[in-house]
Amino acid sequence: MNEKIAIIGAGLIGRAWAIVFARAGCEVGLYDAAPQALLDCQALLLENISDLAEHGLIEEAPASVLARIRIASSLAEAVQGAALVQENIRETIEAKREIFAALDALCGPETILASSTSWLMASEFSADLAGKGRILVGHPVNPPYLVPLVEIAPAPWTSEAAVQRAHDLYSRAGQTPVLLKKEITGFLLNRIQGAVLNEALNLYAEGYASAADLDKVMKDGLGLRWAFMGPFETIDLNAPGGVIDYAQRYGPTYKNVAKAQLPNEWENAVLLKLEAERRSELSAAELAERTRWRDNRLMALVAHKRNQTN
Ligand SMILES: NC(=O)c1ccc[n+]([C@@H]2O[C@H](COP(=O)([O-])OP(=O)(O)OC[C@H]3O[C@@H](n4cnc5c(N)ncnc54)[C@H](O)[C@@H]3O)[C@@H](O)[C@H]2O)c1
Repeated sequence: MNEKIAIIGAGLIGRAWAIVFARAGCEVGLYDAAPQALLDCQALLLENISDLAEHGLIEEAPASVLARIRIASSLAEAVQGAALVQENIRETIEAKREIFAALDALCGPETILASSTSWLMASEFSADLAGKGRILVGHPVNPPYLVPLVEIAPAPWTSEAAVQRAHDLYSRAGQTPVLLKKEITGFLLNRIQGAVLNEALNLYAEGYASAADLDKVMKDGLGLRWAFMGPFETIDLNAPGGVIDYAQRYGPTYKNVAKAQLPNEWENAVLLKLEAERRSELSAAELAERTRWRDNRLMALVAHKRNQTN
């Protein structure tokens, strides 16, 4: 892949996107408004790229991948000649409006402008811009160099050509794009994650199980299957006759259970109890080390999935 890519914001997600595109062979221009973020990022990038190399997830020497990530001294320098600008700055509507107005003024009409925003819709920050037809959301999962899903969420006015181009660029960079046919807050992944969290919090708050056991329901239960098939394929295979057979057997019960699944209020008392239970398992001082452990487990899982033929 030889397109030039601009990454705006060198925080957690911006750095991870820089690795995705540099790993795929792209020249990457990386810009951040905070000079310290740019000073810190070389060492952090090298650490992450070296971890990938250790797990056999890149073939090149880490220094060669890092060499394709160039620190830009201005927004204009970063976006010069870019096929795609991936924005990763702080998550406020004002900040997104301001940066997209600046990007729209700086970039030619052929450049795709994508936001990594977790919750905002493209229509909320692109409505007044002349080039709004090439602006969309490309929502990654942290960290995108390990978790390939990208949710492409166009505004009603985003052109079909821009959506196709973004889909093509993300695919060729090794990601798995999915397309939202219409805008919705939280896109797909965070809505589904939110539904799971809602029910886990309800079950915890109402004293049905410990936090540790509720986590086991995922890691030693549902999550095992969900690493290689989704909920629809799961139900298709969990009754001999497929989806309709499953729905006839279990649909009425699921429907009744769903009626009793109330919105959780994220009450402070429940969160404090959950925090205390988590801290008894893992002290605050161990959080960073455990995050690194998680990323290494993810790398081993990604390497395993790559070695599967089907
Ligand atoms: N953290 C996650 O798990 C996650 C996952 C998916 C999407 N996102 C989204 O990605 C975006 C970035 O999140 P993050 O976790 O990397 O945040 P972060 O705080 O780690 O990084 C944000 C960076 O943007 C820089 N910045 C702020 N304003 C700027 C500007 N005007 N121009 C250039 N740089 C600017 C900051 O200096 C900082 O380095 C957010 O929109 C967030 O919702 C985050």
